[in-house]
Amino acid sequence: MAIIRIFHSKPTIGPKDTAGIVQVLKTNHLSQGEKVLEFENKISQYCNVKGAVAVNSGTSALHLALLAMGIGRGDEVIIPSYVCSALLNPIFYAGAVPRIVDVNFEDFNISPVEAKKQITKKTKAIIVPHLFGYPADVKELLRLGVPVIEDCAQSLGARYQGKKAGSLGLLSICSFYATKVLTTGEGGMVLSNQFKLLDKIRDLREYDNISAYKVRYNYKMTDIQAMLGLSQFSQLKYFLARRKEIAQVYDSALENFQITTPHKEPDRDHIYYRYVVKIKKGRREVWQRLKNRGIESVSPVFKPLHRYFDKNKCPVSDELMKRCLSIPIYPSLTDIQIQYIINSLEK
Ligand SMILES: Cc1ncc(COP(=O)(O)O)c(C=O)c1O
Repeated sequence: MAIIRIFHSKPTIGPKDTAGIVQVLKTNHLSQGEKVLEFENKISQYCNVKGAVAVNSGTSALHLALLAMGIGRGDEVIIPSYVCSALLNPIFYAGAVPRIVDVNFEDFNISPVEAKKQITKKTKAIIVPHLFGYPADVKELLRLGVPVIEDCAQSLGARYQGKKAGSLGLLSICSFYATKVLTTGEGGMVLSNQFKLLDKIRDLREYDNISAYKVRYNYKMTDIQAMLGLSQFSQLKYFLARRKEIAQVYDSALENFQITTPHKEPDRDHIYYRYVVKIKKGRREVWQRLKNRGIESVSPVFKPLHRYFDKNKCPVSDELMKRCLSIPIYPSLTDIQIQYIINSLEK
């Protein structure tokens, strides 16, 4: 049994975060209020988008984005296969049908070529995650002429051709789950330059004190969460710099190993939400060796989405499932831990 334990992912919480929460608790205003507004403004300004609506998760953000676009029964939404099931659920909740397409082998993101093949008269949107923090080819995807919802759950701060991820689609969403780039425990946000869409989302986020009845849920974020989001946001620059620093150490150390390190192109800025390596042979043995040495590593996707339905449709996703391993990367990882991980991989 290893005495050392290095978690695969971990939130980075400091005294500033705890102090902020205590401050909100003392005000007696715990639910959605001024702090939520302040957090919405900070994130929308940071992403260069005109407005934002905070909600209680990334999944809720996707659900309300689809509803605001009027997507429902009979409509189709294109999504990639190599991603978590959070993308499927809001589509089904909205009564629409997901069209699952394959991804690029190099960068894990939705393939514009495969997406194009699935467009029909019923297609109302493409959800485009920038997977593991690396921007998808948004320009090619926008060319398809279908509204794009950018999924920035893993990519806050990433850039595509100099523009912030989240500023390119009709709508975009974020997640602030516990181990995301910045956290509110659970939480999410919808961003857009279109005030009409944001107003619809704001209307659907809460059910009370509205005269005209319509089905609405409680998708609100609390001021406690938003305050944590604000103090986390004040550290975002450091969080991103530290992730990049760790990735650079991994990049140069793993260069001569039989491992493929993350893909890079000059027009995209990776934020390394995940550091995912490809191992052609013996992935399981590497995982086991790391485990024996107390290091958690994981398959970065639990099950590619096409596997829930049609077993042979997305060969690239299937290949990635066999090869990919995500190793620890987060701001609080120490230099000694990083070296220990590299030494463990070296064998
Ligand atoms: C790409 C992507 N989209 C959406 C979500 C959903 O976010 P949440 O867990 O906040 O509902 C996740 C969650 O991990 C995600 O990775």
